[in-house]
Amino acid sequence: MKLALLGSTGMMGKAVLSAALVRGHDVTHLVRSAKAAGSGARVVVGDALDPKAIRETLKGADAVIQCLGVGGMGDGKPNNLVPEATRLIVEDMKAQGMRRLVCASNIGVPGSGALFFRWVLVPLFARKLLPILDAKIKMEAILRASNLDWTAVRLAALNEKPARNKLKVSPQGRTTGYTITTADAAAFMLDIIEKKQFAAKAVAISN
Ligand SMILES: NC(=O)c1ccc[n+]([C@@H]2O[C@H](COP(=O)([O-])OP(=O)(O)OC[C@H]3O[C@@H](n4cnc5c(N)ncnc54)[C@H](OP(=O)(O)O)[C@@H]3O)[C@@H](O)[C@H]2O)c1
Repeated sequence: MKLALLGSTGMMGKAVLSAALVRGHDVTHLVRSAKAAGSGARVVVGDALDPKAIRETLKGADAVIQCLGVGGMGDGKPNNLVPEATRLIVEDMKAQGMRRLVCASNIGVPGSGALFFRWVLVPLFARKLLPILDAKIKMEAILRASNLDWTAVRLAALNEKPARNKLKVSPQGRTTGYTITTADAAAFMLDIIEKKQFAAKAVAISN
């Protein structure tokens, strides 16, 4: 399958890129620096807020995977990167007649279940996450309004331990845990594209 990937140098995107290549997908990914490109996939150098870079990255793709982020927990300030880039991706997909879009989101957005996480742990111990959650709320609203076959994958806290091949998956956000390996999350994102699952849904995943 032809896949377009954004955020391929981040913790989540790196895992998606390597898993996609192992599965034999034909990947085009957007990087901000050519030095970060690696090998095995087609590379577009540019910025996710540049419509031309989005167009070049998405051209001819069967599905798009968006794993953009503001660098770990960010700086605690509002940041529009993810919703704005998602808006550009959606516009370009519509213009090119594409349908399938999978985006990284976060456990902790309303409706993702983990109420203790959202209303106790984040406000008390991880306030920097609040603008990231706000950005994901905006992103998910853009997806819902898009009429595309989108999926928002609400990720628990990522780690780079070996895959456990055991997932808790919940479109209602119930019974989710607090962590997930990037390998398991990447496998889930690719599986739902290959098997055409969870279209028009936000789904929480954890180990
Ligand atoms: N990490 C976690 O524990 C966790 C948990 C739940 C959900 N999530 C969500 O999952 C997503 C990915 O997380 P992550 O930890 O992998 O993020 P990350 O390590 O911060 O990676 C962010 C990626 O976005 C790219 N990027 C940022 N600004 C860009 C721009 N203007 N143009 C093009 N590329 C740009 C970065 O490229 P550069 O290398 O050029 O900076 C990098 O590839 C985020 O939305 C995050 O909120 C993460």
